Amino acid sequence: MCGIVAYIGRRPALPVLLEGLKRLEYRGYDSAGLAVLNGGLKVAKAVGRVAVLEDLVNRQGGFDATMGVAHTRWATHGGVTEKNAHPHRDDATLGHGVVVIHNGIIENYATLKRYLEEKGHVFTSETDTEVLAHLIGELYRGDLERAVQSALREVTGAYAIAVMCAKEPDVMVVARKGSPLMVGVGKDEYVVASDSSAIVAHTTQAITLDDYTVARITRDSFRTTTVDNVPVTAEIRELEYDLGQIDLGAFDHYMLKEIHEQPNALRLCMKGRLDLRSGQIVLGGVSEFARELARAKRVIFVGQGTALHAGMVAEYLMEDLAKIPTDVDFASEFRYRNPMVEEGTVVVAISQSGETADTLAALQEAKQRGALALGLVNVVGSSISRETDAGVYLRVGPEIGVASTKAFLGQVCVATMLAAFVGRRRFLSADAVRELMEQMERVPSHIERILAQSEEIKRATARYVERDNWLFLGRGYNYPVALEGALKLKEISYIHAEGMPAAEMKHGPIALIDEGMPVVFVATRNSQYEKILSNIEEVRSRGGHVIAVATEGDEEIRRHVQEVFWVPDVPEPLQPLLTVVPLQLLAYHAALMRGRDVDKPRNLAKSVTVE
Ligand code: G6P
Repeated sequence: MCGIVAYIGRRPALPVLLEGLKRLEYRGYDSAGLAVLNGGLKVAKAVGRVAVLEDLVNRQGGFDATMGVAHTRWATHGGVTEKNAHPHRDDATLGHGVVVIHNGIIENYATLKRYLEEKGHVFTSETDTEVLAHLIGELYRGDLERAVQSALREVTGAYAIAVMCAKEPDVMVVARKGSPLMVGVGKDEYVVASDSSAIVAHTTQAITLDDYTVARITRDSFRTTTVDNVPVTAEIRELEYDLGQIDLGAFDHYMLKEIHEQPNALRLCMKGRLDLRSGQIVLGGVSEFARELARAKRVIFVGQGTALHAGMVAEYLMEDLAKIPTDVDFASEFRYRNPMVEEGTVVVAISQSGETADTLAALQEAKQRGALALGLVNVVGSSISRETDAGVYLRVGPEIGVASTKAFLGQVCVATMLAAFVGRRRFLSADAVRELMEQMERVPSHIERILAQSEEIKRATARYVERDNWLFLGRGYNYPVALEGALKLKEISYIHAEGMPAAEMKHGPIALIDEGMPVVFVATRNSQYEKILSNIEEVRSRGGHVIAVATEGDEEIRRHVQEVFWVPDVPEPLQPLLTVVPLQLLAYHAALMRGRDVDKPRNLAKSVTVE
């Protein structure tokens, strides 16, 4: 989603801004812009990639300055046009040379706009952000910090902003509520960004701003206040990853890199958490709540997208291993449907970024209603992780590819550990947990074996890539994997794909099956194997072509299907950690064959920070 970079220091700002924007490209955007302040304001905007903006700025020249703001926009209010791109300025005649970049949504922008129009303001874009810029200009009385505070007191909605004013050439003001923003602290310089990937090249010391915090930054001073001008302290922490982790290395795409990182990502995720000797799972982040978890009457997982699919696996795990009634819900539905949260309810938010607006809001709603709020989150210090009572970090490293891969595995792995952690305190014996842990430890090398089939998966994919409709079917633990396989294919190749429980096919979707339609079955050896074989036959007899993900050594399935991708045999609760991997590769190869931009699929954002 929208990205923010801003710089104030002693070096030329432009390279820092452009490099930062490129680092943020993965978040998804449709236009970009920047402004520098050097005597006067100089603004440039472009529709499309950051490279287009860079070209424009280089051609125009005159962007030499040591402070500036830059933005990638993902349209919410108003179409994808140069006018709507950020930065936005205050009124051309009534204003003071205020310039704003903004992530989030100003919900009461229409009311504010009417108020400002009555005062004679003329707007040039359709955006909510321009309204905020005008409001700051309207309230400006010679002190930018004060004007921003006053404006934000009038605003409802979510924002992360960086503001400059031509009348105060040494001051930058930034603020946040509900959208991520951090300030990297270097020597005599500050780099502000909506995520740390735009900061780590310059410094690993950073401040994550709290909601309702306004920071006034000059080249040699930094102070934070609330919107009511009450001083607050800001803590500097060490950012946990380095540039190496967010570089492509030898891979063509982040998605492929991250698929291949999965074995090591899982090793890191499990490191120090599986104590084979005692038969205990060690989860420091939730140990304080172990008793409450063991006594929980109900667990509800919430998330969106891939994280929701991980939540669906978590539902099976929690009921299977911990024997606690469990539900899973879209965070967006949970928060608005007056959910039942009784005594003993634990709500677990699952999120890679820790910034998904609906997931954050669902967690806040759950807390309000008295639930114990846990998080399974990847990004350390993110909004969701800070909102929870306790949680477990995924520790899979930064995920840049828009299509989530290693984070899904991390989410499922942590959910498995959480279910066993709780289960051990209820009905699971130490031996049962030990056996599970031994099997878990082998999963990373099993994944390596699956990755080695990439070329075969590519060849099989090529045989079907021209087909525009695909079905993905699975049962039990593999049902969420079917959903995830379909999501991967549609989001990066734009091929229409649907996932569903295999048994559901007969209730309508079977009408879609015609000669040669590709139907992917996640059909590993497990308690529902015989049933899924019957479903495969139902598809075959109608001319469908079956691509199966099956257990190594299953000679029988070969007779029923056109293509097979093999996964090693593991106990049922661990199967999603393996069965999803061939489907990630299938989607990757299909997208490349269709000429798609795998890491920047159209219309998608890595982190959806608006409702
Ligand atoms: C977006 C991304 C998905 C992701 C979902 C939830 O839609 O494109 O890949 O699964 O958001 O994101 P989260 O950061 O909360 O896991």
